[in-house]
This record gives sequence, structure tokens and C-alpha cells, in this order.
Amino acid sequence: MNCLVGIDIGTSAAKAVLIDETGREIAAATSAYPLATPQPLWAEQDPEHWWLGAVACLREVLTKGRVRAAEVAGLGLSGQMHGLVLLDQAGEVLRPAILWNDQRTGPQCDTLTRQLGLETLLAWTGNPVLPGFTLPKLLWVREHEPEIFHRTARFLLPKDYVRYRLTGEMTTEVSDASGTSLFDVARRRWSDDMFNATRIPRAWAPPSVESTAVAGRIHAKAAAATGLTAGTPVVAGGGDQASQAIGTGLYREGRVAVSLGTSGVVFAPTARPLVDARGRLHTFCHAAPGLWHVMGVMLAAGGSFRWYRDVFGKQEKTAAATLGVDPYELMTAEAAKAPPGCEGLLFLPYLSGERTPHPDPRARGAFLGLSLRHEKAHTIRAVLEGVCFGLRDSFELIRELGLIAADVRVSGGGARSPLWRQILADVLATPVATINIVEGASLGAALLAGVGVGLFPDVGAACELAVREGERHQPRPAETQTYRDLYRVYRDLYPTLRPVFEALAAN
Ligand code: XUL
Repeated sequence: MNCLVGIDIGTSAAKAVLIDETGREIAAATSAYPLATPQPLWAEQDPEHWWLGAVACLREVLTKGRVRAAEVAGLGLSGQMHGLVLLDQAGEVLRPAILWNDQRTGPQCDTLTRQLGLETLLAWTGNPVLPGFTLPKLLWVREHEPEIFHRTARFLLPKDYVRYRLTGEMTTEVSDASGTSLFDVARRRWSDDMFNATRIPRAWAPPSVESTAVAGRIHAKAAAATGLTAGTPVVAGGGDQASQAIGTGLYREGRVAVSLGTSGVVFAPTARPLVDARGRLHTFCHAAPGLWHVMGVMLAAGGSFRWYRDVFGKQEKTAAATLGVDPYELMTAEAAKAPPGCEGLLFLPYLSGERTPHPDPRARGAFLGLSLRHEKAHTIRAVLEGVCFGLRDSFELIRELGLIAADVRVSGGGARSPLWRQILADVLATPVATINIVEGASLGAALLAGVGVGLFPDVGAACELAVREGERHQPRPAETQTYRDLYRVYRDLYPTLRPVFEALAAN
């Protein structure tokens, strides 16, 4: 039997899935690792943890799936995007990786945008330079850690570091390279203009290939560590959002998907590189050759709910442990007791600052409209609704580009909640369909691997084989109206509160 493996190097865990050649899941594994916040707004991880997580997952799926290593026809990689891994001449990691949700580089972004101008940045890279992206992190290291900068010989993105450990090859691919601010997205190649303008050595960037290309083979040392067979092809794969989209069946223009992970993403494939004139959406290469995509990224979607659980959900955590259920289930059951709109209580989900549509590291979260009437149920529901309003901001921008979707496919951990899915349908005023997959990124990577090694003729065929729609939620008229009215209020909150965020940041 031919099998495929997809690995996703996530923010909180490595995940792997083993599938057969019909796209059916045989086994899955997860291995969690920590995230360090050494200073407010910082987010770092030790790349060694990614490697150890990947090894643990690979071993586990091979054992659980009871397949012989020789049956693995190929492996694909997906991973959190934008993270900066710096390596010296010997290929040793120079400092902890600076992650996508790290917000320290606001000043570097401002300076570069002043120097080059938004129009030039959009022309050269398809995007503004944002604090989450890779280039400003390099500029920060040059400014604040010059001794590290001078020892640097290469930079890699998170999943590409794991590929390096698996194969000894340093390579990236177009979808992840798109999020570096050093990539010419329209032409699907590195932007010499950006390297020249920022004086970052071009030789530091790994070669970039299409996502379905074979980008190395498992070498002997990695075979011994993982249990895989030396020589197994490793396919380039994609950034987690592009891979997730493949694992959700988004291989052509006309479909829109929402991913409710730590971050919240609204994603639409496009046949051409479409750029929002104000750069509010990301324009990146898709992992399907010949396609691009636009997406809006809110930084704390599932992350907001997790924060709420960890800070206010201690009671639910204890009860859940006794009952043998997930604390989120108890919390959403409580949220269901509050009416749509939470009797005027709004939650702003900017717990990590924000990216789309307000690229502002200083933005903060808030509950607004609290009154004596409000109970815990309202506060939980307000978090779920606030995240959906944030997603609607991106959805509206995508609509403004002329990309209309008949429905929206939803995936990610948050999509497990029927209540949250229904709120999403009501807030977007669009039907929301689940799919048979929750963790699409590792599946997407496995499907890309299948295309790369020739098990599937193309990405579309792979998606059709593996991805099926499940339950649908229709928008309900009364609730949709309530949310339409409340969304108007929500939209005004950021511009109104911006001076407050600035004042808070100065304290
Ligand atoms: C995408 C982004 C996040 C990360 C983490 O632009 O920053 O979604 O990829 O998952």
C-alpha cells in the first residue's frame, strides 16, 4: 500500500497525519511544545522543539498506522508562516526563532514603509511590510543583535528548518516565501529589488520552488531518528494557511474558507495576483501551482477563546476533568444561554495586537458595554461573537475585490463548536459548511506530497478525493439582522479607541 505523510509545524504543537492513496486518514499524532514570551509583544520558539515534535509525531503515526516505512511514498511539510530562523555557516541555529505573532518590529516596519513607500512595496511584493512578516524581524536583529546578524549565513522559515533536519537541504516554496516581504509574489520568485533596497544578502535566502516539487530526500541520520526510510521524497509543501486551504478543498477561485485556529483566517484562492490598493489583505502565492490567494488574518481567534478559558475558565476546566469532556464544550454550553448580541456586550479580539484589517501591534482587547445585567454566559458568547466580527472585517474586504462566495467552508479547532459555526453563519450572513477535516494543514501537506510523487494527477484531484462537505449552518434572518446592527457598532470601535491604545502603549 502507498501512504503519504503530512507534518504541520504549528504554533502550539507539531501535528502529523498518515493517509492512504485514497486520501483516507490512517493515523494522526500531535506533540505539543512551549511558546516563549520573554518580553511583552514578543513570541519565540526553539527550533529544536519543532524538530523533536516532528520526530515524535512521525514515529507515532508509523506505529499507530501499522505501516512499514517503505510504504511511505512521500512526505509533505506545512508550518506556521513568517517565523525567522537564523543559521550560521555550519547550519547551527543562532537564536530562538521569532514568530508570526511577535509584534516587536513595529518601528522597523514604519521606517521601511517611509523609505520605500506603500506603493513600491505593493508593486515589489504584493503586500505592505507588517510586524508579523519575516523581513522586519531580520532588520530588528541587525539593529538590536548585531553580533548575531554578523554570524548569519542563511535564514529559513519554520517548516523549512524541519525539512533541513530531515534532508540536509535548505529550500523553501512559493506560498511561505510570499510572507517574508522579500518575495515577488506576482512573479513567484525572490525580489532582488527588496534584497537590494534593504541590504539583506540575497545568498541568505534558500532556493524557492513550487509547493508540489520534491525538495529533498530523507537522509540517513533523519531516517534513524524518525523510523522513515532513507531516500523517501520530501515534497516542498506550503505555509500553514495555504496547506490548510488545500486540506479544505480550496483549489480554485470561487471558494472561500475560514480557519478558526489560534489565528483566524479568511482565505480565497484567485486566478491572478489581486492586490488590495491599501494593502489591507495579504496577497500570496497559493500552494496549487498557477494560483494565488488573498487572505485576512486576525491574530487571536481561537487564541481569544483559549485566553478566556485559561483566565476565567478554571471552574469549567475542573468540571470538565471530572466529566471527561473538553472544557470548551462546557463553556460553549454556557455561552448558548446568552442571547445573540449579548444584550449590548461587545468583545474586541485584539489580544495580540491585530493584523487584518488594522495592522497595529498596539491594539488591545476589550469588553465594551458591560452592565449589571451581564453574566458569565454573556462574556463567553461575546468572545465568540467578537471573533466572528473580526472575521467579517476580512470577509468584507474580500468581497470588495469582487470575490463572491455562495458559502464558506470552516475548519480549525474552533470549528468543532456548532454554536460558534452558527454564529459565524449569522454574522457573515452566508451559509457555513463544515468539512470532514478539522486539522487541514497536515492533510494539505500530505496531499501536496501525493501530487509531488505522482500518486495524484494534480491538486484539484487530490482535494476532490480527500475533502467532503459535512454539516451546513444557514444564516437565520433575525440573528443576522441583530448582528448586522451590532457590526456597525463594532466597526467604529477600533478607530474610536485607537488614541486610547496609543496612550496605553505609552504607559
Ligand atoms: C498567516 C499567519 C498565521 C500563521 C500561524 O499569515 O501569520 O496564520 O501562519 O498559523
